Amino acid sequence: MKEIPMEVKEEIEKLTKEINYHNYRYYVLDSPIISDEEYDRMLRRLKELEEKWNYYLPDTPTKRIGAQPLEKFEKVTHREPMLSLDNAFNIDELREFDARVKRLLGSTGEIEYTIEPKYDGLAVELSYKDGILVKASTRGDGYVGEDITQNIKTIKSIPLRIEGVTEIPEDIDIRGEVYMNIEEFERINRERIEKGEPVFANPRNAASGSVRQLDPQITASRKLHISCYGMGYVKGLQLKSQYEFINWLRAARFPVPVYVKLAKGIEEVIEGIKEIEKNRNSYPFETDGAVVKVNLFELQRRLGSKTREPRWAIAYKYPAHQGITRVNDILASVGRTGVITPLAILEPVKIGGVTVSRSTLHNWDEVMRKDIRVGDYVIIERAGEVIPHIIGVVVDRRTGEEKKVSIPEKCPVCGSKTVREESEVAVRCINFNCPAQVEERIKHFASRKGMNIEGLGDKTVELLHQRGIVRNFVDLYRLKQKDLIGLPGFAELSSKKLIESIERSKKTTLARILFSLGISQVGEYAAKLLAKNFKSLEDLYNVSVEKLLNIPQIGEKTATAIEHFFRNKNNIDALEELKKLGLQVENPDFQEKDKTLALSGKSVVITGTLPKPRHEVEEMIEKAGGRVSSSVSRNTDFLVVGEDPGSKLSKAQALGVKIISYNELLKMIESH
Ligand code: IVH
Repeated sequence: MKEIPMEVKEEIEKLTKEINYHNYRYYVLDSPIISDEEYDRMLRRLKELEEKWNYYLPDTPTKRIGAQPLEKFEKVTHREPMLSLDNAFNIDELREFDARVKRLLGSTGEIEYTIEPKYDGLAVELSYKDGILVKASTRGDGYVGEDITQNIKTIKSIPLRIEGVTEIPEDIDIRGEVYMNIEEFERINRERIEKGEPVFANPRNAASGSVRQLDPQITASRKLHISCYGMGYVKGLQLKSQYEFINWLRAARFPVPVYVKLAKGIEEVIEGIKEIEKNRNSYPFETDGAVVKVNLFELQRRLGSKTREPRWAIAYKYPAHQGITRVNDILASVGRTGVITPLAILEPVKIGGVTVSRSTLHNWDEVMRKDIRVGDYVIIERAGEVIPHIIGVVVDRRTGEEKKVSIPEKCPVCGSKTVREESEVAVRCINFNCPAQVEERIKHFASRKGMNIEGLGDKTVELLHQRGIVRNFVDLYRLKQKDLIGLPGFAELSSKKLIESIERSKKTTLARILFSLGISQVGEYAAKLLAKNFKSLEDLYNVSVEKLLNIPQIGEKTATAIEHFFRNKNNIDALEELKKLGLQVENPDFQEKDKTLALSGKSVVITGTLPKPRHEVEEMIEKAGGRVSSSVSRNTDFLVVGEDPGSKLSKAQALGVKIISYNELLKMIESH
């Protein structure tokens, strides 16, 4: 290895520092000061230098994702146990807590406390040595947790190095809560319903399920956040109080709770608690309480802990957003992809100030498992902005008159027989022309994340579809003002406006149109991926599963669904028709592959044992511009053969794919 020139080292150091700073501006402060393009340019330059000189700083932003899936999680023993909290369910219990603190401290004066929202997620510990993040672990049983370092690194708001403060502790364990915003939770559940996968019950389970993934790619694909609020083992940091500590964390670029109040005496604590309660519905995440902590560390130390909870802190729980009401009916509603979901029609009930009259049950298994019958009284929970859901049945109130429901055997809209695939929980109507599905596809097409046709809401789509004016999404682009005038809610001006916004939507991006088409398995994320890898819509017309599988994040199921969509002549006709009607597709997401590398554009398959670990060889191929795929096909350019090759060798021979040895591969790359 050649000695790295001083100026290269310096440039790598400077770029690492700057990119990390811009990450902080973007992900923690939510106030970027450079454009995405500038950011990408810096990141590309850093990657290029790192790869060329094989020199990576421990806090390099380029290695947040990319680690291989784990076999299992290693155990981590916390240097200081991670305790849990005692609860107070009302103001009286809170006053008792304050009285106990005073008594134990023998104090007559007012105690200083901090108040923070209680984040509902999973507690983690981040260990920093000389300012570098070296390990992250889950709380586990409080004493021993699991090593989740590679997953935690994918959370971009977590600093990989402590910067921004003068005092960098030699060793510190920082604690916080990893959580998921309500919007992301709902997005993931929608996606899971479409795929027929079981849903997460709440954002906490979703966050915990996302962190405890052996494959860090999955964690990376979920938007997770952290709020840091505590400290475990520490060496080399002199702070006096929780409030000072939160300020230190903030300065050191850690995300901290959105609200931290310093209160003198219990009355001010109560004010703080009320303030959080007032605001909690507008927080993007779920909070079920507030955490009250004695501020001074010296007093915390004197108060000490019981086995499981400290005596210096308490969680104040807000009244749950729950209510009891009667299930008047259970309907079957047909979604865009034909999935039939149960919908409970409820006797209207006020929960947390909002009237609830319906609740989606995620799937029929849930109805059966919870044994929900028409006529039952059920407990409904509405937490934050989350759609209300049924927690369970109040069995005591059954009269015997309740009616069990059964899984629909026929589509409630078109009457065709439903199907249920073995590994799926979803029940589907597979009639592609089922009016319910068609209507949902039009809604999806017009939606904000789709073609974003302003002013074309669900109700209007229903009207236009049910009157036969719009039979499919292509028809939307054929609409004329005269078709609208006179319809309920449409006068001269409103019809003109709608036609104008339909016109505006015709100029779009590839990612948007792909999402709008409602291709099975293709949500926002997959649509973006496709746009990154294919230049135009037409490039996808003849796409094959093999080609799609070259995109590492796309799996078999998604690839098959995409191929299937573009093989269908009706779909291609619809696209061509959209173009005739004025659809113009740009693709700013496309990332041109570097065509100048040794293996640019080449598809490579490996078989047998090579002199280097498989992942290293794969990385080498990818660095040289090639794509590694797992199976041999006509599109394969090379098969690299090691010792004891598998059946891929004979397949390659049969297809006439070029076969090379590991040394030949090296030569190809090096001689380039
Ligand atoms: S302090 C010994 N502060 O709540 C102090 N915890 O029910 C314990 N939590 O395990 C932690 N937000 O996972 C603290 N602002 C906050 C918190 C918080 C959420 C969680 C944490 C803890 C659990 C206890």
